[in-house]
Amino acid sequence: WAEDGHDLWLRYRPVEAGAGYVPTAIAPVADTPTLRIARAELERGLRGLVGAAPAGADRVILIGTPASSPAIAGLDLPLKAAGEEGYLIRSATFDGRSATVIAANRDIGVLYGVFRYLSLIQTRQPVDNLAIVSAPKIKLRMLNHWDNLDRTVERGYAGQSIWDWWKLPDYADPRYADYARANASLGINGTVLNNVNAKALSLTGPWIAKAGALATVFRPYGIRVYLSARFSAPIEIGGLKTADPRDPAVRAFWKAKADEIYKVIPDFGGFLVKANSEGQPGPQDYGATHADGANMLADAVGPHGGVVIWRAFVYSHEQPDDRAKQGYAEFKPFDGQFRDNVVIQVKNGAIDFQPREPFHPLFGAMPKSNLGMEFQITKEYLGFATHLAYLGPLYEETLRADTQARGKGSTVARVIDGDLDGRKLTAMAGVANIGTDRSWSGSHFDQANWYVFGRLAWDPDASSRDIAADWAKMTFSPDPRFVGPVVDLMMGSRETVVDYMTPLGLHHQMGRSHHYGPGPWVAGGERADWTSVYYAMAGPDGIGFDRTARGSNAVAQYAPAVGACFADLRCVDEKDLLWFHHLPWDYRLKSGQTLWEGLVTRYSRGVAGVDAMGKTWGDMAPYVDAERHAQVTAFLKIQRREAQWWRDASVSWFQTFSQRPLPAGEALPP
Ligand code: GCU
Repeated sequence: WAEDGHDLWLRYRPVEAGAGYVPTAIAPVADTPTLRIARAELERGLRGLVGAAPAGADRVILIGTPASSPAIAGLDLPLKAAGEEGYLIRSATFDGRSATVIAANRDIGVLYGVFRYLSLIQTRQPVDNLAIVSAPKIKLRMLNHWDNLDRTVERGYAGQSIWDWWKLPDYADPRYADYARANASLGINGTVLNNVNAKALSLTGPWIAKAGALATVFRPYGIRVYLSARFSAPIEIGGLKTADPRDPAVRAFWKAKADEIYKVIPDFGGFLVKANSEGQPGPQDYGATHADGANMLADAVGPHGGVVIWRAFVYSHEQPDDRAKQGYAEFKPFDGQFRDNVVIQVKNGAIDFQPREPFHPLFGAMPKSNLGMEFQITKEYLGFATHLAYLGPLYEETLRADTQARGKGSTVARVIDGDLDGRKLTAMAGVANIGTDRSWSGSHFDQANWYVFGRLAWDPDASSRDIAADWAKMTFSPDPRFVGPVVDLMMGSRETVVDYMTPLGLHHQMGRSHHYGPGPWVAGGERADWTSVYYAMAGPDGIGFDRTARGSNAVAQYAPAVGACFADLRCVDEKDLLWFHHLPWDYRLKSGQTLWEGLVTRYSRGVAGVDAMGKTWGDMAPYVDAERHAQVTAFLKIQRREAQWWRDASVSWFQTFSQRPLPAGEALPP
């Protein structure tokens, strides 16, 4: 068969002869929508991996819940640890046969357990002596689709939106179930269907029906549907003159709207809202606050069990202060004022999904609010679909960063899994990279970013390297001669992108509006805050954004020990150097090089890194089908060319300020 990647990590190709796995029978399973899917998945997986079980196979798998299976109830399993969505996998003996039990408290946990069990075979781990218990550490594990109603996708590089709105609600494309299945394999349990830059139209009856049809497909896979809500909808579709959250008619509009949605989608998840940011409407248009706005919507969906996810990506280009400080400044004062069913969704960093950002200062700063994480899976600032950048290390770096909000060990992961401040409603969202492209994500390696996002949302303490290894085995080949080099390649790939795009803490150096390719020379135009000249602050005296007390003092938004470290040249990690400091071109780096030399060296190292990836990938040809190998090879060529472009453009531009020669061995095109 031709390999176009549509099967993702769920390929279930036969294991090698002698791998030690045997055909296994499946004991009868209760007939519920989710258990039917679980059983079919197990059947499909086992048949593909190890072949159909002969009648009377001496191995059997039992799946189910105590409520649906007397056999499982009879085993008296310690299911408490599995919680609402987790599962237990145990080796046991049943009716004199060796058995594997996949049990959970609810059907969805069984489905998750089945995927886990199959992944053990896919990654060639033993399945004879299992004692696994796993439960998600985060409650809402969500994708955010920035999909427009005309099927374009904002910042999407994988074709059109997979939601075929024209044919919904009447026709459910089979891809919807494929999508739900892939997400369920990771434990993702929510999806926001439409762009945060929302149209009010999406909240009208016909569109609610379309969302309802998707919800029907997703429901047995444990996935709830959410919608982005445009704050001014009461005016646009409600015939009101205002959207002021304190106005009784506005409150009544949203209450009625929520009631209408829940009639069609009884398990509707709730609203995601981008308000008063980048020109979107919001409560501040009426002198009301983010808390007023979020709470009003929370009151509308609350009685139905819904939540409001209110984004903290809020800034105004009319605000002259450092953009990195604006989200914190807008939200921190309202800590403790949001309803229990509100989540404040915070981007990993304070600017915008850059190749590298220090963690957002709001993490740890709002102990009396539910704070959720927003990562970007789609690579808006990391080379779109063609550049190979595995984002696991980026996510991990943020999750493991120590906010020190309650002393050492107060990691971002502890904030968002609710552990640090005893929060129950926890969330992690990823801006999806999914589209109509046959590979789903625009490139084969971009599937890994969807995968690692889902795995980390289940367990934010998991290792991105281990996850890369699982993905590489499941997606391509479990051969160690493949897995070793490819996991190393993946783990280094994001740093390589940082090197050729924005080394040493530089940020926001991309071409304007499309965000592709270098644009460090972009001049202010009408937006004084949004210029790359502004973010690099390059001049004859040096380069970097001073966020110490001498500059914007953004460091003061962090816990004192963290801010002090960022502000201190002896303490700050060089990877964040120019994020926090403006330094002379001759500043000495730890390596002994000057800042200018170190910058150039890193840009060049990035280009060399892509060469090395190309070389490694070339050596992998024996382990990968020709189709997928060729696409990755072609994309790496694009990346190589564009890494050079980034390096040459950036070095040339900054040299106009540094007025220094290139270090020995470095050159620019004539
Ligand atoms: C970035 C991105 C926009 C998006 C915005 C957001 O600025 O470029 O396309 O709308 O983030 O997250 O709201």
